[in-house]
Amino acid sequence: MLRVGVIGAGNRGKDIYANFILEKTDEAEIVAVAEPNPLKREEMIKKHGIKPEYVFEDWKDFLAKDKFCDAIILATGDDMHFEPIQEAMKKGYDILLEKPMSNKADECIKIVELAEKYGVKVMVCHVLRYTPFFSKLKELIESGIIGDVVDIQHNENIGNFHFAHSFVRGNWRNSDETSPLILQKSCHDLDILSWLLGGSQCEKIASFGKLTHFKRENAPVDSAERCLDCKYIDSCIYSPKKIYYKNLGAWPTLVATDIQTVEGLEDALKSNKYGRCVYKCDNNVVDNMVTIIQFKNGVNVTFNLSAFTDEVCRTIKIMGTKGEIRGNDSKNHIEVYQFGMGEGRFSNGKMTEIIPEVLEGGHGGGDTGLMQDFVDLCLGRKNDSKTNPRVSLESHIMAFAAEKSRVEERIVKMDEFIAEAKNSK
Ligand SMILES: NC(=O)c1ccc[n+]([C@@H]2O[C@H](COP(=O)([O-])OP(=O)(O)OC[C@H]3O[C@@H](n4cnc5c(N)ncnc54)[C@H](O)[C@@H]3O)[C@@H](O)[C@H]2O)c1
Repeated sequence: MLRVGVIGAGNRGKDIYANFILEKTDEAEIVAVAEPNPLKREEMIKKHGIKPEYVFEDWKDFLAKDKFCDAIILATGDDMHFEPIQEAMKKGYDILLEKPMSNKADECIKIVELAEKYGVKVMVCHVLRYTPFFSKLKELIESGIIGDVVDIQHNENIGNFHFAHSFVRGNWRNSDETSPLILQKSCHDLDILSWLLGGSQCEKIASFGKLTHFKRENAPVDSAERCLDCKYIDSCIYSPKKIYYKNLGAWPTLVATDIQTVEGLEDALKSNKYGRCVYKCDNNVVDNMVTIIQFKNGVNVTFNLSAFTDEVCRTIKIMGTKGEIRGNDSKNHIEVYQFGMGEGRFSNGKMTEIIPEVLEGGHGGGDTGLMQDFVDLCLGRKNDSKTNPRVSLESHIMAFAAEKSRVEERIVKMDEFIAEAKNSK
């Protein structure tokens, strides 16, 4: 039996990973928690039967003890990964580390070095690698069905309400406190692009983007600071009535209030950050960002990250010398076109439709696949996993470089950027 401790029992730690262990496996159990929020801590104690000596308010108290379990799930906020993971690695714990590894490039490099020095097993939560959808795309590319990949157009469609919840009102609204949008939201996408391209690294990157819409100047006339006091509460696209009331007991309402009743939600919205007008928050992260990437294997990619989409999904078009692949992960749908094999006059490809298998769980089944892999890795059933800090570093460094390009309005060469990050340690 794998004995696991959770540090940071929030949405990821408590609701996704600890729930997986409770509901989906008999081979692991949660034996410890470090969480400052008393309600979340209590929920963990009750659900998992955690003994009082293994309940902590702070990660520092958890890791001050000698090693007492096998593995740790580290799911604190972006700016609270670096210190605890160093301690946990020193103590010899195997670790599931939430992404981003850290919100600083030099700290990400250090995590890679320390994981290799201490020889502990560390997985980074790049859930997309575990989805049947992206695995199928990789299999198709590697089969050669579209020849050599020449370029890719990839979109992360954040979804307007998801953006408002997480990146305007919520935890990741301000890059000074957490991390830039492209690191926080899209290290997954940068990771999956490199993975689809057989691990090719980025040569150069350029990025454009800004905060366009969610600003005070775009607020409706006479709108209030808080939604519950606002005359637009029924009509506003971003009204809590549309985002939170109908999702009691589920994300994103699980994040917006600790108490999952209408009264609990209303109480929370009167004073917490999720009750604020989306045009009057302290947000500074971009709401749209277009990035161009040249990979070392010669493939060019455009990556479009946007708040202004209806669906929350990823769409991709992979263009090869002999064909084209189009996919939408939320529709779980892939189309493969083989050039010159169809009958059409202006479209001469033969189209094959592919529906990847369905795996239960968040992120298109990626959360489930990731956790099963972590359990297998820690129990010694396999020596290697699909993610680790060294593999993950590529996507993180690309994200930091893209942000630098956007801010400094110039193309960033990766070799120079990495050398600079190493020197700043
Ligand atoms: N892999 C993914 O797809 C994915 C998706 C969403 C978020 N994330 C990442 O997961 C991490 C957690 O995100 P979340 O949505 O669960 O956030 P969250 O705010 O719900 O959870 C973080 C928890 O850490 C706790 N915490 C704060 N200080 C602490 C301390 N000193 N010791 C122990 N715990 C402490 C907080 O009280 C909170 O409950 C973030 O880094 C985020 O970027 C990853």
